[in-house]
Amino acid sequence: MKNMKLKCTIFSRCLILLLLWAISEVKCSIQEQSDIKRTDFPNGFLFGAATSAYQIEGAFLEDGKGLSNWDAYCRITGSIADGRNGDVADDHYHRYMEDIEIMHSLGLTAYRLSISWSRILPRGRLGEVNQVAVMFYNKIIDNLLLRGIEPFVTIYHFEHPQEFEERFGGWLSPLMQDEYVHFAKTCFENFGDRVKYWITINEPNLFSELAYERASYPPARCSPPFGNCASGNSDVEPLISAHNMLLGHAKAAKLYREQFKSKVDGLLGITVSAFMYVPLTDSEDDKEAAERALAFNSAWTLDPVVFGDYPPEMKRYHGSELPTFSSEERDLLRDSIDFIGINHYGSLYAKDCIHSSCICNDSSCTPGGDRAIRGFVYQTGVRNGVFIGDPTGMVRFFVVPRGMEEMVHYIKERYHNKPMLVTENGYSSPPSEYDDYRHDVKRIRFHQSYLAYLAQAIRKGADVRGYFIWSLMDNFEWSSGFRTKFGIYHIDSLTLNRIPKLSARWYRDFLTNSSHFDADLLNTISYRNKVKSE
Ligand code: NOJ
Repeated sequence: MKNMKLKCTIFSRCLILLLLWAISEVKCSIQEQSDIKRTDFPNGFLFGAATSAYQIEGAFLEDGKGLSNWDAYCRITGSIADGRNGDVADDHYHRYMEDIEIMHSLGLTAYRLSISWSRILPRGRLGEVNQVAVMFYNKIIDNLLLRGIEPFVTIYHFEHPQEFEERFGGWLSPLMQDEYVHFAKTCFENFGDRVKYWITINEPNLFSELAYERASYPPARCSPPFGNCASGNSDVEPLISAHNMLLGHAKAAKLYREQFKSKVDGLLGITVSAFMYVPLTDSEDDKEAAERALAFNSAWTLDPVVFGDYPPEMKRYHGSELPTFSSEERDLLRDSIDFIGINHYGSLYAKDCIHSSCICNDSSCTPGGDRAIRGFVYQTGVRNGVFIGDPTGMVRFFVVPRGMEEMVHYIKERYHNKPMLVTENGYSSPPSEYDDYRHDVKRIRFHQSYLAYLAQAIRKGADVRGYFIWSLMDNFEWSSGFRTKFGIYHIDSLTLNRIPKLSARWYRDFLTNSSHFDADLLNTISYRNKVKSE
């Protein structure tokens, strides 16, 4: 009898546990959909939008701006998918007040912008500071602050005076470190009394790969099997350019801490391109490949600025190709950031290429796949013919919301929960969504579900302090030109008028906690889109 009673108790306890688990699962899937609220995030959590100078400003060579690497690159036939350039872009240089009003109307508490190097210092250390450009950024910063919007300033976002390429080979030369420190100092001197958050460099990892391995960003250098460029070395040059960027960052960080930080109690970080990697199969080899891919991607930048050296995984596989830091440089780099900026868009599968052969040619590469292999990992967006997540307008960006939690967790664990900010997250519409661009339901779903997983990571203890949508408005998406659209505002190509998409309305409602975004409206539109596409 006693035994029977015990069995009953155990059974009923199990039942209760099962029930609780089922409820939490249902809750999660609801959250994933549309339930996410601002109040799911800690008090003071920053919500913003991000842009970068070359992608939105326009005003080519205006008011003393010098020629930049992108100005020059866009003029090479075939370099930009739609043959366009950033000469006018979104004309933000002339319309910044309207754009700030838009940010204010959305209820943003932060705005991430970058400073154009070729506007502020058209000739680098050889010339004067362009005071008109300083005034331009002063007006932006002051007007943001007036409206309670915290400026987050990226010092280097892929753009620098072209002259550096011609004089000493840009980021391939250590001279670029000194140029960078001079530029950073100029920014701290002119804006450091009001700007509290600085990002030294945007995505050194991605920039180095695209500029020196794959030749899709200037100066477009590469070698086989990555591509057939007139000059370059895809194995070594990305490592050299990243090395110079990291040292430039560390020197600027030291300067900031010594001379400027105390003025406003400022914080300085670096931003990485952070793809999440999932093993293609359950094999130990693929699991290791996924770890390796993470080390060769985000940890390439983050290990040096937190621990003072490159990831052990990279040292093991690169051998002497990987530049080394002197012990003074390691000291300078170690702990040179106050926060980690994460640009997260999607996840990819990782397949081991040490124990199996992976090289694909143009026709056999899977979507999101790589022709050439870094770290002996083949990256792909497809497993057994099925995408890892919905494809988007960018070939390697698949929608995998849970990847946000996984990415944040990885960084939290590897870097002892250093403060983090999601400095970019966004959805690029594929061409099939262009006609109905205003009704960007997929973009809304994207942000809702990524935010839900971010909130979950925070609930589990990750110290994440802010989230920025990429981007406030459609803009010049580098080598894809204006064809790739990430914005919550559309820019009319003739009038340059800013037209809110449905996602802008959703973000505003999310930020102002207003009753709730009209889910019925969303459903009607999804339905209409569905019918249209059938
Ligand atoms: C990362 C870059 O920082 C930004 O410039 C770019 O437009 C977005 N990702 C989308 O590719």
